[in-house]
Amino acid sequence: MALPERPSSWQVCARCERERSALSAETSCPDCGALLEIRHRDPLETGENLRRLWSSRRGSDLPADLSGVWRFRELVLPGAEAEAVTQPEGNTPLTLRAPVARWAGLETLFLKHEGMNPTGSFKDRGMTVGVTQARRLKARAVACASTGNTSASLASYAAAAGIPALVLVPAGQVAAGKLAQALAYGARTLLVAGDFDACFELAREAAEKLGVYLLNSINPFRIEGQKTIVFEALEQLGWDPPDWIVVPAGNLGNTAAFGKALAEAERLGLVRRLPRLAAVQASGANPFARSFREGFARPHRVSADTLATAIKIGNPASYDRAVQAIRRTNGVVTEVSDGEILEAKAVVDASGLGCEPASAAAVAGARRLAAEGIIGRQDRVVAILTGHVLKDPGLLLSYHQQADPPPPRANRPIEIEPRLSEVERVLMRSFEYVLPT
Ligand code: F0G
Repeated sequence: MALPERPSSWQVCARCERERSALSAETSCPDCGALLEIRHRDPLETGENLRRLWSSRRGSDLPADLSGVWRFRELVLPGAEAEAVTQPEGNTPLTLRAPVARWAGLETLFLKHEGMNPTGSFKDRGMTVGVTQARRLKARAVACASTGNTSASLASYAAAAGIPALVLVPAGQVAAGKLAQALAYGARTLLVAGDFDACFELAREAAEKLGVYLLNSINPFRIEGQKTIVFEALEQLGWDPPDWIVVPAGNLGNTAAFGKALAEAERLGLVRRLPRLAAVQASGANPFARSFREGFARPHRVSADTLATAIKIGNPASYDRAVQAIRRTNGVVTEVSDGEILEAKAVVDASGLGCEPASAAAVAGARRLAAEGIIGRQDRVVAILTGHVLKDPGLLLSYHQQADPPPPRANRPIEIEPRLSEVERVLMRSFEYVLPT
């Protein structure tokens, strides 16, 4: 008798390796409590053929092919593309900005701008898959805890799918743009009197006891979508891998996704060697960096405090799989101060690209690793800008307009009377402007 054919995807517990259907709604193993991982049947094509198939979809106008996530569907969620909840997302630019590279002390620093996604952060790449999965499971409601971006993304995709969304955010600790988005897209928004870690515990409990479908990054379907940041960056580099990929790290979902993406890219012959991963934390929210320094002897838990509110997380949920990602890629974990983050952000912003504070941590981390000689000055480096400059207008205005004394890179606005002579004065002073004769 022929064995029943494997489904195209299934879930497996990262610890006890027990398998379950892709249509099971738990986000951690009911037997041992560890996080779940998605496995797919190997695609029919590998190596050059798979690369060519993905590239050929760029000329198609099918909704799934227009998405920078579903275009890579063989390694995301094969078979689900016809019912995908897609805006579309992905297809973000990989750009060079000389002043940013110079500041970081690197010859070649590519910036992959995930802030160019529909809701302004990389979370859309995971959310298109997570919400598609919620629809396949006929979820009655979806929920997440968030430092802001996940809630904005969930709110948007849930609205697109017509599924009620509940978001839990730490009261008073979410950047204005993100909170505004969650409200605007219509999610039921709970301002929790506690930090992100408290919100997360509550969301997990709500998922377990109240049956809402949890869409934090412990949800393995989100990880599948976030892997495409790596696939797309590699494709943009002609599948000639960089030496380093640098990513800001909070709850560690993205670090985990990058590790999985790279392992799969190597196994399927998409690349010949692996870039090294560098995860960057804020010094005030550095549990993963602490563990790294001790050779990952144990997970740490801290009471988090940083201006980069997106990564203000003290007890990261995807610790185990992020450790694996760093080990597999011979990677490193570092930390940067809020001062370094603010300076990096001012440099990225003034290059015309702009990003939110947590994203700037990646650039600050690249600079620190270059100064320490861990990243070579001639290495090819990709830094991931995870969120858009407009996410955190409060911090921007306080930096440029309000801080006293003004920080070195502050661009103070100038108040004037409505007179041409005042405009002329500013032009001449600011730009050594020569008036037309
Ligand atoms: N950068 C930004 C802009 C983020 O919003 C986040 C996480 C990270 C980096 C870190 O990614 O958690 O996968 O290590 N934001 C989550 C949220 C926690 O709720 O929006 P991570």
